Amino acid sequence: KNLPQNLYTADSVRAMDACAINDHQIPGAVLMKRAGRVCFGALQSHFPCAQTVTVFCGGGNNGGDGYVVAALAQAAGMAVQVIYLSEPMELTGDAQRAYQYALQEGVACRAFTSDYAMPIQGVIVDALLGTGLRGEVRLQMVEVINKINAAGLPVLSVDIPSGLCADTGQSLGAVVQADVTCTFIGLKLGLLTGDGPSLCGQVVFSDLEVPNAVLTGQPVVAQRILLEMLLMQVPTRRKAAHKGDFGHSLIIGGDIGYGGAALMSAEVCARMGSGLTSLATRPENVTAANVRVPEVMAIPITAGVDVEEWVNKATVIAVGPGLGKFAWGEQLLLAALMAQKPLVIDADGLNLIAQGIGGRVLAQRDVNIPLILTPHPGEAARLLKTSNEAVQNDRVAAVKALADQYKATVLLKGAGSLIAGPGTPVTLCSDGNPGMASGGMGDVLTGIIAGLMAQSLAPLTALQLAVTLHAAAADRLAQRHGQRGLLATDLIQEARALINGK
Ligand code: ACO
Repeated sequence: KNLPQNLYTADSVRAMDACAINDHQIPGAVLMKRAGRVCFGALQSHFPCAQTVTVFCGGGNNGGDGYVVAALAQAAGMAVQVIYLSEPMELTGDAQRAYQYALQEGVACRAFTSDYAMPIQGVIVDALLGTGLRGEVRLQMVEVINKINAAGLPVLSVDIPSGLCADTGQSLGAVVQADVTCTFIGLKLGLLTGDGPSLCGQVVFSDLEVPNAVLTGQPVVAQRILLEMLLMQVPTRRKAAHKGDFGHSLIIGGDIGYGGAALMSAEVCARMGSGLTSLATRPENVTAANVRVPEVMAIPITAGVDVEEWVNKATVIAVGPGLGKFAWGEQLLLAALMAQKPLVIDADGLNLIAQGIGGRVLAQRDVNIPLILTPHPGEAARLLKTSNEAVQNDRVAAVKALADQYKATVLLKGAGSLIAGPGTPVTLCSDGNPGMASGGMGDVLTGIIAGLMAQSLAPLTALQLAVTLHAAAADRLAQRHGQRGLLATDLIQEARALINGK
């Protein structure tokens, strides 16, 4: 929660480090001591019962930070051992000074060997690789990382879990699974997106007291979005307001067997404050819809029946939840695309587009009419005609490419969801939890987006707000009841409370 908003590449943060040292005369050794102190403080606060610390040190300055942590732990009376991967006598500069500091404090240091028996208690500090990591992790380092992960002890990583690409959030062959990651100076994007959030554990940030000017010269790759700031953009309602002021949302979906998806979407859309909400769905779903949410107008659509009347009445359309990939869904997708209304496309709506359905209509759409696409990495890969891996290896590039190619405001789902419109800066949602990995979550999100768009929020704001409301609702519920067993419909009342500032 207390993380900075601006996110950077690892190279930018390295440049900041250099700028602090060279332009602001903060010696590297001072930064290293400060980094070591932050790590040791986090170690004490996160693992207050730990008596034993094993620090794994690489041969660069990340290893140097590790020697400082070892020295501080030793001075505090803990049982400390450093396991090094590069001969300490070969360390240079600040890392060498940090090693000498550890020696002075009486820290026991020994080389890593293949027969090294891992500790069976205490905390592991991972100071193997920081922003100096280049390319795939080399073999000996892979061996150490695997041993750390197999030890089953709590791990605190210094700056980055070793082996994590700090730009993409992907593994570079093997990655330390950390419980806490203390990271410095500028927040690196890869810690908050892709696999980064799973691998970092709790992220603790410190700017190491460098002046702000150190950061300003570097480009921001993405910005975290904050619910409180987005909520300020939700207009208050006039006393004399009527339902016509808050739009008419039409949710389209719910092929045979998937009625719940469209129904959840319509229900949350109404709960977000859409003035009117309609649901165009299979006739088989209509009774259920009327029973569950009588406020939603459930329209039975059989194959070949025209939805034009309903499409024309809508001020915003969301197509995709439970739509299916068959003729019924194709017909409805085409109707939604041709309507020239603000449009949200999710799930099978995206899969049909990736198969070429509606391509011509989409290309002819007026670019001034908002279009929102909400793919998960698999759908994004299909839309971009690339692999899932390629999307995850550069999530920022993928979300920008989708926004440009489809002239749309795009959400790339997955931990650390990214949002971009054509030419807009990329933003990231760092809220949410693994309890959200359950069916229907995407359908609820689609309904939230439509409900906000209906109330005249600009597409980028509506999408950013919807994503944060959805994630924050899930976080509040997980805090109260735990992550496991969180259902998409649980989010509906919680999101409603949040949008009303409750
Ligand atoms: N596989 C295995 N090892 C690798 C790989 C790879 N693919 N790629 C790089 N390495 C090794 C390098 O060979 C090098 O080790 P060596 O010196 O034994 O050859 C080591 O990894 C370098 O990695 P880092 O320690 O991450 O790089 P660097 O020395 O640049 O330090 C830093 C990074 C500054 C510690 C950063 O991660 C950090 O924590 N910054 C926070 C602030 C801080 O502590 N600053 C210290 C200032 S001191 C100074 O900057 C001079």
